Amino acid sequence: MRIPEETIERIRQSADIIEVIGDYVSLKKRGQNWIACCPFHHEKSPSFSVSPVRQIYKCFGCGKAGDPVRFVMDIENISYPEALRFLAKKYAIEIAEQEVSPEELLRQNERESLYIVLNFAKDFYKHYLLETEEGQSIGLSYFRERGFLDDTVQAFELGHSPDQWDALLQAAVQKGYQADLLEKAGLVLSKEGSTTRQYDRFRSRVIFPIHNVSGRVIAFGARILKTDKTQKGAQPKYINSPETEVYHKSQVLYGIFQAKQAIRQEDVCYLTEGYTDVLSLYQAGIKNVVASSGTSLTIEQIRLISRFTQNITILYDGDAAGIKAALRGLDMVLEEGLNVSVATFPDGDDPDSYVRKVGTAVFKEHLQQHTHDFITFKTDMLLRDAGDNPFKRAEVISEVVQSISKIPDAIKRQVFFQKTARQLQIDEQTLISESNKLLRKQQDQPQRQGRDQPKTDSAVSGNAIDNLLESAFGDDPVLTESTPALVPKKTAQKNHSPLYQHEEECIRLLLNYGPVELEPTISLCHYILSELGSMEFTTALLQEMLAEIQQGFANTEIRGADYFLRHTNQEYVQQAIHLVTQRYHLSDGWVKHEIFVPTEIDKLADAAYTNILRLKKATAETKMATLKVKIVEATDSEEMDSLMKDYMHFKRIDMEISQLLGTVYSG
Ligand code: CTP
Ligand code: MN
Repeated sequence: MRIPEETIERIRQSADIIEVIGDYVSLKKRGQNWIACCPFHHEKSPSFSVSPVRQIYKCFGCGKAGDPVRFVMDIENISYPEALRFLAKKYAIEIAEQEVSPEELLRQNERESLYIVLNFAKDFYKHYLLETEEGQSIGLSYFRERGFLDDTVQAFELGHSPDQWDALLQAAVQKGYQADLLEKAGLVLSKEGSTTRQYDRFRSRVIFPIHNVSGRVIAFGARILKTDKTQKGAQPKYINSPETEVYHKSQVLYGIFQAKQAIRQEDVCYLTEGYTDVLSLYQAGIKNVVASSGTSLTIEQIRLISRFTQNITILYDGDAAGIKAALRGLDMVLEEGLNVSVATFPDGDDPDSYVRKVGTAVFKEHLQQHTHDFITFKTDMLLRDAGDNPFKRAEVISEVVQSISKIPDAIKRQVFFQKTARQLQIDEQTLISESNKLLRKQQDQPQRQGRDQPKTDSAVSGNAIDNLLESAFGDDPVLTESTPALVPKKTAQKNHSPLYQHEEECIRLLLNYGPVELEPTISLCHYILSELGSMEFTTALLQEMLAEIQQGFANTEIRGADYFLRHTNQEYVQQAIHLVTQRYHLSDGWVKHEIFVPTEIDKLADAAYTNILRLKKATAETKMATLKVKIVEATDSEEMDSLMKDYMHFKRIDMEISQLLGTVYSG
């Protein structure tokens, strides 16, 4: 189901960056651009800029950047075609998709096929629950007994699987789906050692489809109907989909699709353990709730939440074992800079049973009174355990300090030192110096390798080499020195060719000022291309872009920033954004763009001339370095002579250019 090229073009044309991003964050106008706090990382003051003119966004804090399609991909966590479909929907653009035959279906890429067959299964179970007699009398009445209303059943697309060995399999095969695909989707199993004897994984259970963040069904949880555990012997309460191409348990949170809007609005995400907790709270009007589905929280799940809010409240049931298990994973959440709180319920109750018992209003009030920030909660728990034992109390202190030290924000750390010092009844300064010791230890560790090691042959570790390369070929020193935090991670790659920065500067000039005339009838593009001649860049991406520019120029088209920013190749788009925004690092951010550019345009001829000289100088130096190695290795004198001659040739070029560069301006 490819989207036709013209349709892609239409979607790209229609999608307006301000409208698209405006759906997710509140943008404020600042000069020509719009700014906001970045939705991709936690920050207090806005460094996320959107340019309606260029139709791009860029965060000067975390480096995320792109066009409207890229934004949708990143914020919704969906693929490129999914993002196009998403935008098509927003702008009411119809995508003419052909009816697919099963054969065609097979040829399509596997992920897409998996989504389709999973969606089919979801519809099948839903239909069985709502439209068949057995479904209604068994599955639906089970849900009703538990108090789930039809709206909730609808919103979560609940279902029921028949009490048969292969009901789904048969229905799917009849529709033209291959049994193989169903197995890959985790829907059917093969009898051991056989591929012909296949049967449904989920039989005679109520079905909880698991949606990804954009609402696609990626897996299922299936609950046994019998409440009496002994009756069916060793049958587990839940059977879940296995890991598949589209389902990675550790990256998924049950309910995120239904909850994301509310999470954003309420600016807090409630994290529960089970499917039924999510359903009950949702039904009670508390819709900002997800479940980790009985596993301990992972870093991916935390990052998923952090796209919508920085505040997580964990709702676990009252039993102490559960709480202790939960505490272990939480330092990780602190490390991500999120604010974590914990709410507890009376022993024996979980959020599901409690909200049904007391109703929405009392439940909300309970939350207000029994929610504590994680550090306070943890300290309290540990202290109660330790009692009066001084050794245990000392351990508590070090545990708590460890957690606080994980918080990246210094001010927040400060607040917690004050608060817990009171709680632990010790001096705040003691806590802080404990923490400083810890932090120093952490900072020392990665650096000590490589830097302090003597350079004996056995000690020339990968690390040491990395350090050397970094110092030799690192990023533009101006960028790294003045604003280390602002250099986007993507562009801070190591192991660049020594020519990299000059090649990049060359493309930057071409992108930003290609058509500007340096002299009458000589555009910058014309000048640079003719100076470069047939020279090729050593950096693959930059060479590709150069080739595109050369191709355009051969047809009298000057391909600048706009050409690359609208390109379908995302690598070009990223690089182009980096290059059209790069200089802002040197000034005061995007806002000053207009002030900066005129001064650069004034010196444009100089900049182009210097860049070309530097490129040539660096090329000569690279050649010299290679020749040097060859000279050392040369065996006969004739070869050596010829190599020396070449070496001297480049040496002369190098010196001449040095002189020329000296007369332009130093730097
Ligand atoms: N779980 C599971 N397999 C099991 C038991 C539990 O995968 N055998 C997961 C499910 O995701 C479940 C969560 O752990 O939702 C929490 O377990 P539990 O509290 O036992 O289930 P509930 O969803 O609360 O179901 P119920 O209220 O019907 O007991
Ligand atoms: Mn439960």
